Amino acid sequence: MIAWVNKVVALTSILLCFCDKDQVMVILLTGGAGYIGSHTARQLSGQGFQVIIYDNFSSGHREAVKEFPIVAGDIADADMVRATITRYRIQAVIHFAADSLVAASVTNPARYFQNNVCKGLILFNQLVDQNVRYIILSSSAAVYGEPSVVPINEEHPLKPANPYGDTKCMLEKILQRYHEAYGLKYASLRYFNAAGAYPGGDIGEDHEPETHLIPTVLKAALGQIEKVSVFGRDYPTRDGTAVRDYVHVKDLAEAHVLALNALRHGMPSTAYNLGSEEGFSVLEVLRTATKITGKSIKYEVGPRRAGDPAVLVASSTKIKRELGWHPEHKTLAEIIGTAWKWHLSHPHGYKVPSSGDSEIE
Ligand SMILES: NC(=O)c1ccc[n+]([C@@H]2O[C@H](COP(=O)([O-])OP(=O)(O)OC[C@H]3O[C@@H](n4cnc5c(N)ncnc54)[C@H](O)[C@@H]3O)[C@@H](O)[C@H]2O)c1
Repeated sequence: MIAWVNKVVALTSILLCFCDKDQVMVILLTGGAGYIGSHTARQLSGQGFQVIIYDNFSSGHREAVKEFPIVAGDIADADMVRATITRYRIQAVIHFAADSLVAASVTNPARYFQNNVCKGLILFNQLVDQNVRYIILSSSAAVYGEPSVVPINEEHPLKPANPYGDTKCMLEKILQRYHEAYGLKYASLRYFNAAGAYPGGDIGEDHEPETHLIPTVLKAALGQIEKVSVFGRDYPTRDGTAVRDYVHVKDLAEAHVLALNALRHGMPSTAYNLGSEEGFSVLEVLRTATKITGKSIKYEVGPRRAGDPAVLVASSTKIKRELGWHPEHKTLAEIIGTAWKWHLSHPHGYKVPSSGDSEIE
């Protein structure tokens, strides 16, 4: 029943966005030129929101968001954030901007606390000062650390196992306190493993370095890397390799739209897990990718990585029940299929290949 009511509310707000120019909500996407941000920008704009991208391009791509107004800036630049909020009359922020490599956060925690927490705080202070009332935070399954129960729901204790997870936990806590003190309403969305690409294949994942499994496997299928490293084959899982929950990036994007609409229609500030609720092992990903690409993909088994849990699978019951979120691209084959389409049409990502780069047939 609640899900049905939320769907009606969401539909009504979409109609309002389209019907009345004054009602068009303007959303600032920090880190909007990144992987998840660029997909969310599309999803929001397709539903009548006006999107402004704010990015320092440390890992983002202009080509991913060329149809939107772009402000090139750092979230720590309080003057530029303030000017952007005023100029575009920003009403809500979706905060993607962050560094997000777990291993790098272990060797260089200073960078992670600085970019994610200190700079995040500067941004939040501007939102409060400028009376922006809503924020959606990109949080992560990393806030849970090694899970004591799987599937993991939002009640699971927050015990991050690395500095990256610490930063997401801290941002969530800051938002909770800012909400209590200043009325800034928030939803923290804890993503599990974002994967896949927009079904048209014109935007997708392009990280440098690439540390995520699916794009790495597809790079091996394209012959761009020799083999895939499999970290550990002695986990207590069905084939000994680590099991993860892959959620399609377009479904993630849609969850931001639902959360935003719910916040403006009175939903209390809260946190939601976003996963497909199904786990796949590294070897299952390799097998599915082999089938979809028709290429043989070499891999090499090495030791486990420190701090890598055996199984991370979400319970997303809360967001399904409260906001009516239902992932459309649920199967691993669909997720890898859309990613493959993107990789085939953009073998060098957003980079235009130089004459020295080899092309894929
Ligand atoms: N990709 C995943 O599977 C995953 C999982 C859990 C959480 N997350 C979180 O989701 C968010 C988006 O992830 P992504 O995979 O799209 O990452 P991404 O690296 O593709 O995007 C991050 C964007 O933020 C920008 N940025 C970084 N620091 C900035 C700063 N100080 N000022 C302005 N812009 C800045 C980058 O240029 C980039 O465009 C991140 O917060 C990440 O921690 C991602």
